[in-house]
Amino acid sequence: ALTELRLTPVAGRIGAIVDEVRLGGDLPAGTVTAIEDALHRHKVLFFRGQQHLDDAGHEAFARLLGHPVGHPTVPSADGRYVFELDATKGVRANNWHTDVTFVPSYPKASILRALELPPAGGSTVWANTAAAYQDLPAPLKVLADSLRAVHTNDYDYAASLALTPELAENQEVAELFRQVFVSTAFKTEHPVVRVHPVTGERSLLLGAFAQRIVGLSGADSRTLIGLFQRYVERLENTVRWDWQVGDVAIWDNRATQHYAVNDYGDQPRLVRRITLDGDLPVGVDG
Ligand code: SIN
Repeated sequence: ALTELRLTPVAGRIGAIVDEVRLGGDLPAGTVTAIEDALHRHKVLFFRGQQHLDDAGHEAFARLLGHPVGHPTVPSADGRYVFELDATKGVRANNWHTDVTFVPSYPKASILRALELPPAGGSTVWANTAAAYQDLPAPLKVLADSLRAVHTNDYDYAASLALTPELAENQEVAELFRQVFVSTAFKTEHPVVRVHPVTGERSLLLGAFAQRIVGLSGADSRTLIGLFQRYVERLENTVRWDWQVGDVAIWDNRATQHYAVNDYGDQPRLVRRITLDGDLPVGVDG
């Protein structure tokens, strides 16, 4: 039987808090299905007070929703699937992106838990990319429907992320960036408009890894990507989450972008993420 979840929307178009669920590998099937349904509807779900989860519990819960996948270039923090973002090592995802879109079947969802937070700041903002597509005027929808984009991890991260010259001088940080960002260059092509395999909704598939529109010059690509990206970043299409230790967020990586706000200086911030295997994006022509 389908369990009723206690859901409280956080913003008008994206995001809901789920109360009274203790996450773990032992959730009843009805609750798991209800979480999946809510995820497809609200795009990002927030669960407070999940301090009991360790890496193993995080993974056990993730397995109820899909197949965990390791990051293609970053060694995992637990030797299995956990991807760690440690601000003290310069890992701060302060650009608009969808996770790992530089591989063909990029993750369908991500599950992030907060372990250590700055006293203030360090929020994350998510955007509803299906709402962004809906907001496009009709001629821009037609244009977006017809485009494909090249997604790659081979670009100047230092310019777009918070890698300060001081951090770059640190051997450990420099080595981490080398591993993460230039060890293996991936490049893949996706439709700019993705049809969601479960909901059938169309969404804009862009974000920081989308570097080029197929058939266009670099300059024209930047102009067009910027034009569509403005609809993603419209505040009306976003939700901002102020983390507490023990919070877990799950997002539908097929219908969102997110941005980790880098406003906390050199205070520590540590979060851990598990991503779930996805399928090949399908455009409007199938
Ligand atoms: C991420 O980009 O997956 C992490 C977001 C965050 O650090 O809040």
